[in-house]
Amino acid sequence: MKIAISGKGGVGKSTVAAALALIMAQRGQKVLAIDADPDSNLAACLGVSAEQQKLIVPISRQVDLIEQRTGAKVKQYGQIFKLNPEVSDIADQYALLHNGVALLVLGAVEKGGGGCACPESVLIRALVSDLILVKSEALVMDMEAGVEHLGRGTAKGVDTLIVVLEPGQRSIETGQRIVRMAQEIGLKNIRFVGNKITGADDEAFIRNAFPEHPLLGIIPYSEEIRMSDRAGRSVLDNLGAEMRKRFVSVLEQLQRGITVS
Ligand SMILES: Nc1ncnc2c1ncn2[C@@H]1O[C@H](COP(=O)(O)OP(=O)(O)OP(=O)(O)O)[C@@H](O)[C@H]1O
Ligand SMILES: [Mg+2]
Repeated sequence: MKIAISGKGGVGKSTVAAALALIMAQRGQKVLAIDADPDSNLAACLGVSAEQQKLIVPISRQVDLIEQRTGAKVKQYGQIFKLNPEVSDIADQYALLHNGVALLVLGAVEKGGGGCACPESVLIRALVSDLILVKSEALVMDMEAGVEHLGRGTAKGVDTLIVVLEPGQRSIETGQRIVRMAQEIGLKNIRFVGNKITGADDEAFIRNAFPEHPLLGIIPYSEEIRMSDRAGRSVLDNLGAEMRKRFVSVLEQLQRGITVS
């Protein structure tokens, strides 16, 4: 199963991504988690300690790797790139294994005008395509709000795009933009998760927002999640049985949807 998780800033994308990745790993699946958000913090959600996080060097800052694979120098313009840099070994070599999840942090790429063709972005685009189209393990990709990381070809390899929503108009508007962009690149399976839900009104608000798209589940607002963030623990640490069930149910809905389609 290969899923990408999107949504407005702060709605809980990384929380949902980490919870799904950790539960799949606990169930014995080989899981690759990709942090594709330039402001990366999926590691923290997976429970990687602050000290260990400091040791993570995102792919976009691995200058030697980028130059070796693309044949181009970082921060020089007007160069020739290898169009298909070798990337198939990168996940195995550069991912950090934690709580059974292999984590790969892509990092920020400077966005040049007129379509970025810097060596970092060439390598990362090739890497994302390889991970999504070629690698066979379960894959969870934590994204920034847009779907730029998923090109047209790559999008076909993703089983489902999950859009996380919180009960507020701004989160819905971002969701609508994401749906439009996703449809433009040919992503067909778009599913929603309502997060930080405090009651029936919130739930109804989320259910009415995208009536034409299936809702995978509702995650209540939870002090346990907030506290594990404050304490620097994984999102599943100290999660009560009821809350855990909500995430498990989202995962099972996803798996069901994927088997049927
Ligand atoms: N169900 C929830 N109940 C309470 N707090 C939550 C819940 N889900 C997420 N949070 C908290 O909301 C904050 C933002 O969550 P998270 O980092 O997962 O969002 P995000 O969408 O990935 O944010 P960003 O756009 O910055 O990447 C965190 O402090 C997290 O602990
Ligand atoms: Mg995040």
